[in-house]
Amino acid sequence: GLKKKEVNVLCLGLDNSGKTTIINQLKPSNAQTQDIVPTIGFSIEKFKTSSLSFTVFDMSGQGRYRNLWEHYYKEGQAIIFVIDSGDKLRMVVAKEELDTLLNHPDIKHRRMPILFFANKMDLREALSSVKVSQLLCLENIKDKPWHICASDAVKGEGLQEGVDWLQDQIK
Ligand code: GTP
Ligand code: MG
Repeated sequence: GLKKKEVNVLCLGLDNSGKTTIINQLKPSNAQTQDIVPTIGFSIEKFKTSSLSFTVFDMSGQGRYRNLWEHYYKEGQAIIFVIDSGDKLRMVVAKEELDTLLNHPDIKHRRMPILFFANKMDLREALSSVKVSQLLCLENIKDKPWHICASDAVKGEGLQEGVDWLQDQIK
């Protein structure tokens, strides 16, 4: 059959935001794991959509591993940035990491689509995707296409909308 276009995606965001849970849901069911543990370093995962074959660098969000992220920036053609919408206390840390990312020389002047997941929307205390987008000042991102989706990665809700957007940006 027709070979799908290959795309490298960086999956970034603070520890416990749900990156691995999201990527796991996007994989075919026979490749999904039941027990998700905090990522050590990073893990390379693959999933396909109708027109693309994604290779995802699922990075650990723990503070001690965040310095690994930048080594993969050149490799990435798109970014999935995950936020725990219930973690109000660390929203400012998420913003700092995002700003550092956006100002990095390997990212700054490239047209890289960024898909944001305002994840854990199921939590009673979760902020809306509009609120998350305001707190992260996403409207200031002028040189890259971006999109934010509320998601519940445990139930798999909101993920398809995001991936459809990402596919449209790349294909
Ligand atoms: P690191 O690998 O440490 O950077 O974390 P991560 O971003 O990969 O988070 P991970 O996917 O390991 O999920 C952390 C915890 O959040 C797990 O217990 C998940 O089950 C839980 N979780 C992920 N997504 C959701 C969600 O949408 N809602 C709720 N309630 N819990 C979630
Ligand atoms: Mg992880």
